[in-house]
Amino acid sequence: MQEFFEFRLTPRVLYKVGLAFDMAAELASLGGSKAFIVTDEGVMKSGLVDRIRTATEESIEVVGCYSNVPPNSSVAVVEEAAAQARAAGADMLIAIGGGSPLDTAKGMRILISEGGRLLDYEGVNVLERPLVPMVAIPTTAGTGSEVTNFAVIKDDENHVKLTFTSPYLCPELAILDPEVTLSLPAHLAAATGMDALTHAIETYVSTEHEPMSDALALGAIEIISNNLRDATHNGRENEAARGQMLIASTMAGVAFTNAYLGAVHALAHATGGHFPVHHGLANSIFLPHVIVFNAAAEPDRYARIGRSFGVNTGGRSREEVIGDLVAAITQLAHDCGLPTRLRDAGVPEDALELLAEQAFSDGALFHNPIPATPEDLLGILRAAW
Ligand SMILES: [Fe+2]
Repeated sequence: MQEFFEFRLTPRVLYKVGLAFDMAAELASLGGSKAFIVTDEGVMKSGLVDRIRTATEESIEVVGCYSNVPPNSSVAVVEEAAAQARAAGADMLIAIGGGSPLDTAKGMRILISEGGRLLDYEGVNVLERPLVPMVAIPTTAGTGSEVTNFAVIKDDENHVKLTFTSPYLCPELAILDPEVTLSLPAHLAAATGMDALTHAIETYVSTEHEPMSDALALGAIEIISNNLRDATHNGRENEAARGQMLIASTMAGVAFTNAYLGAVHALAHATGGHFPVHHGLANSIFLPHVIVFNAAAEPDRYARIGRSFGVNTGGRSREEVIGDLVAAITQLAHDCGLPTRLRDAGVPEDALELLAEQAFSDGALFHNPIPATPEDLLGILRAAW
């Protein structure tokens, strides 16, 4: 049993179809009066941003919009966007998009409030006071960034993904609106859904697991196993499945911001630092192989995950259940149209040693149930390739 744990309950989470276009009163309660929107090109083109902006301007002035956030946001992007927001006099950020726009806004709020260069704030608990308020409207389900204390930003010069960790980075308000996820293409619904599944599974077996995160993680795993196929293939018609995925990814986000992640994310961060592989896709590829590697350390917990995932557990050994869980996760990724081998995601074999080395220095590895060596990580990479 745990002798001690900390569990933070932030931010305020609101769920409703159409809420993103009807949140004026909620925004007015946050204290800012000059909002700046942060988003990406795809979301901008979908027309969502214009609709949200028009609805927002009923109660709050929108002083600008940065819509050039790339898929893996970088230090340079955060600094450029923050300079624009500051010049416009912004005192509140509205982030609309997947993990990259949300994490970009988190980085921007540091610079708007504290000034200086982004790299000055890398690491854990460097920030000492609240930042300009932030509203997060996730259009993917997802990263969970709308409820987490983390921002992951790429350092383009050194090809590494930097992690910023502080409770002050967590948005003040998360707007969960299934309607804004409807235009998400199938391959992104699949990849981001596998990211959410990875969050739930890694946090459940993390060295920091505690009962409150456990409950959220298992709940998220069950919802994802029941809804990801529908949300991927019938997403535009199936608002219910997209809504369920949005809820599950937020539940997994609350779980992992409290109980942390593991080797899958360490490997995905390293891969994403060097190759344009989607974060969710990288997780999806590594997840089954890391379960095989970790299984002996937490057999009861992985078998419990199997039960939530819908694996038949009746009269079967833990090892059999875990074997079926690994097969079922690979099948889910395949059914959702995702490649299941690293070689098919554009990573060359001669990069594996470098990725193992890089993953070994990633903070997510600290909480993996087995302390993996660079050789262990290379073995996982080879198995996944
Ligand atoms: Fe993730």
